[in-house]
Amino acid sequence: MNKMRAIWTGLALVAGIATAAPAALAQSAAAKAATARKENFKQVGATFKAIRDEMAKGSPDPAVIKAGAQKLNGLARQLPGWFPRGSGAEAGVKTGAKPGVWTDAAGFAAAVRGFQGETTRFQQLAMAGDMDAAKGQIRALGGACKTCHDKYRVPET
Ligand code: HEC
Repeated sequence: MNKMRAIWTGLALVAGIATAAPAALAQSAAAKAATARKENFKQVGATFKAIRDEMAKGSPDPAVIKAGAQKLNGLARQLPGWFPRGSGAEAGVKTGAKPGVWTDAAGFAAAVRGFQGETTRFQQLAMAGDMDAAKGQIRALGGACKTCHDKYRVPET
């Protein structure tokens, strides 16, 4: 009888470990993805700020604007890869990404495409050296950030 109980306890332990291990792994992967995502968005924020600061100068340096435009467009291309499924709040990670990123995947993809369209346009204007037109594009760029944040990012407190 005691032997049976020992076997059952042993089996239960093994089963417990078997179910707990993948969950723990998944959580660390989710935490990693969320951390990387926030770092990437910090870069997006810093790049956009650098562009706006340069544009605010009397005569912006086209080289700085071009470099910023290329960097921002590159980040926009990578953005979809920053949201692997399972890296949201449901995984218990600290994130400002709303569940809608994944549950409304079509809407999120549309917000991404809208943003990429604006960063592409901005890069074209910057590469053409048209600083006035590029400056005029800043508002559309900022609008694309806001469109996505309003729907898919938890408001900052
Ligand atoms: C397609 C959606 C989308 C677009 C476009 C977008 N963002 Fe975000 N952004 C997010 C989401 C979602 C988060 C929350 C990420 C998280 O906490 O996991 C975020 C977070 C951030 C953060 C906070 C990073 C941190 O420190 O945690 C900054 C800064 C930011 N975005 C700036 C910008 C700027 C500037 C633009 C436009 C040039 C932009 N974003 C465009 C969705 C977007």
